Amino acid sequence: MKGLKDKAVIVTGAARGIGAAMARGLAEGGAHVAVADLRKEDADAMAAQIVSAGGKAIGLAVDVRKRASVRAMIDATVAAFSGLDVIFNNAGIAQVKPFLEISEEDWQTVLDVNALGVLIGMQEAVKTFQALKRRGKIVNTASIAGKQGYEPLAHYSASKFAVVALTQAAARAFGNQGITANCICPGVVATPMWKLIDQGFQEHGLSKSPEEAFNTFAASAVLGRPSQADDLVGVARFLASSESDFMTGQSLLVDGGMVFT
Ligand SMILES: NC(=O)c1ccc[n+]([C@@H]2O[C@H](COP(=O)([O-])OP(=O)(O)OC[C@H]3O[C@@H](n4cnc5c(N)ncnc54)[C@H](O)[C@@H]3O)[C@@H](O)[C@H]2O)c1
Repeated sequence: MKGLKDKAVIVTGAARGIGAAMARGLAEGGAHVAVADLRKEDADAMAAQIVSAGGKAIGLAVDVRKRASVRAMIDATVAAFSGLDVIFNNAGIAQVKPFLEISEEDWQTVLDVNALGVLIGMQEAVKTFQALKRRGKIVNTASIAGKQGYEPLAHYSASKFAVVALTQAAARAFGNQGITANCICPGVVATPMWKLIDQGFQEHGLSKSPEEAFNTFAASAVLGRPSQADDLVGVARFLASSESDFMTGQSLLVDGGMVFT
């Protein structure tokens, strides 16, 4: 893809699900991709898959909640690919809890990965872009839950509103250096995360069968089907490429038509 070839890109949470699809798609578009995840073995396997398909990739361990770990991920990427052009802060977790049962610990667990993890990823990437004197790009994964609060996912929704806010604030903070920040808001995507959400619905007696919650939520997409991780690849390539250079601070809903803003 134009403006993507040979770009050095990190995707966090890329061992599976949406991140894996993005990493594969970006590499197919010519980017050099660091596949970073808490699950190091799976990240390595995903990177190996990309390499055997003719792409350029490395697998890296990262815990996005830990600044030193994020720093090491970025430094390893800069060393492997001679720089950094784009970071996808995509790693995230979900937890199903009825509103009145969300504890302080639940809040901390979800917000640590989904909000603090994104803040740290953005900060360390910007410092790197500045040191390298590059007009880097930040692409965060928010959600339709970053546009509307969903029950029983209130703390998850709050974490995704935080991602939208961080994206807007960074766009304002670093636009004068040519650094952009945008986010992607997926809808209901068939990934391992939704298997866990479905389980959570059942455990709390909110659904009766596997995939009932998934199907109920997905049914509101006007395009008439749930999303697959590959549905997010086009927009990921666009936001990583120079085709999107004049866009910043935006949250792009890619949800098959669930939420209109
Ligand atoms: N699946 C959906 O319907 C959906 C919808 C909207 C937004 N999202 C968001 O998209 C992103 C990816 O979701 P997914 O469905 O692919 O999830 P997933 O659970 O399938 O994959 C998430 C990946 O993130 C990794 N991860 C978790 N915590 C981490 C940490 N602390 N450090 C590094 N890596 C970590 C996991 O190991 C896993 O490989 C998340 O931010 C999620 O909130 C998903």
